[in-house]
Amino acid sequence: MSADFLPVVRTVAQLRAQVRAWRAAGETVGMTPTMGALHEGHLSLVRLAKARARRVVASIFVNPTQFGPNEDFDRYPRNEAGDAELLASAGCDLLYAPDVSQIYPPGFATRITVSGVSEPLDGAARPGHFDGVATVVAKLLNQAQPDLAVFGEKDYQQLQLIRRLVLDLDLPVEVIGAPTARAQDGLALSSRNAYLTPDQRIIAGRLNVVLADAAARLKAGDTVEKVEATGRAALERQGFDQIDYFEVRHAQDLSHPGPGVLSVPGRVLAAAFLGKTRLIDNMAV
Ligand code: PAF
Repeated sequence: MSADFLPVVRTVAQLRAQVRAWRAAGETVGMTPTMGALHEGHLSLVRLAKARARRVVASIFVNPTQFGPNEDFDRYPRNEAGDAELLASAGCDLLYAPDVSQIYPPGFATRITVSGVSEPLDGAARPGHFDGVATVVAKLLNQAQPDLAVFGEKDYQQLQLIRRLVLDLDLPVEVIGAPTARAQDGLALSSRNAYLTPDQRIIAGRLNVVLADAAARLKAGDTVEKVEATGRAALERQGFDQIDYFEVRHAQDLSHPGPGVLSVPGRVLAAAFLGKTRLIDNMAV
């Protein structure tokens, strides 16, 4: 299918009319919210949605409220035509690319905070980020009203926050987490990888190796505090410029399990800078 055949809608009314038509024909609807600059990782979300629902709508909206004042909102890569082509090739049926007024109409005054899960890690490093995510995701899900929505495990804290949000607000949608798509050296695919210089790209490929080693050590019985210290030191040695966090957390609510041997389902998560580019990744324990 070529990009010519991927319909694009820009208003809630158009989006809902299409979803209503699908429902009237007895078809289920999946959604993959994105900020564009699509890569194979996003396409794997679309394919998973397509495997689970008859129709798939992808959204592209670079959400200003989830970027901090010194973050990359202005330089965030935007390429709607190229993205539409990729979406069509992955089996997407509709692109929702809303005008900003559809998400934040004049006078917009609502902000959603998901306490607890949004507070540590990226929540601490990027104040306000998760309020922006929770608010826009609640809006997108309410606008499209899909049966299911797919989010990547690459943004694991975001995924757990969305699960909490959907539960707390009784949003009638099934949230599906998709495994992280990776490059050959294991680097988690991310739109921000495009910022890396060739030398930084080589170092970036070591983040997942250090995380996998940490997960293996935890499984073998190393203590949480030892694994965190070892992981952080390994990232420094590998050449990362700044480490925001390297932490073991409870897999569900991301609370800290405390010192000692891990006795709950865990997740080890890291965020580190190469130059100005911030990379995140995580692994199940
Ligand atoms: O993961 C993303 O791309 C964004 O955070 C999301 C979920 C589309 C909300 O803007």
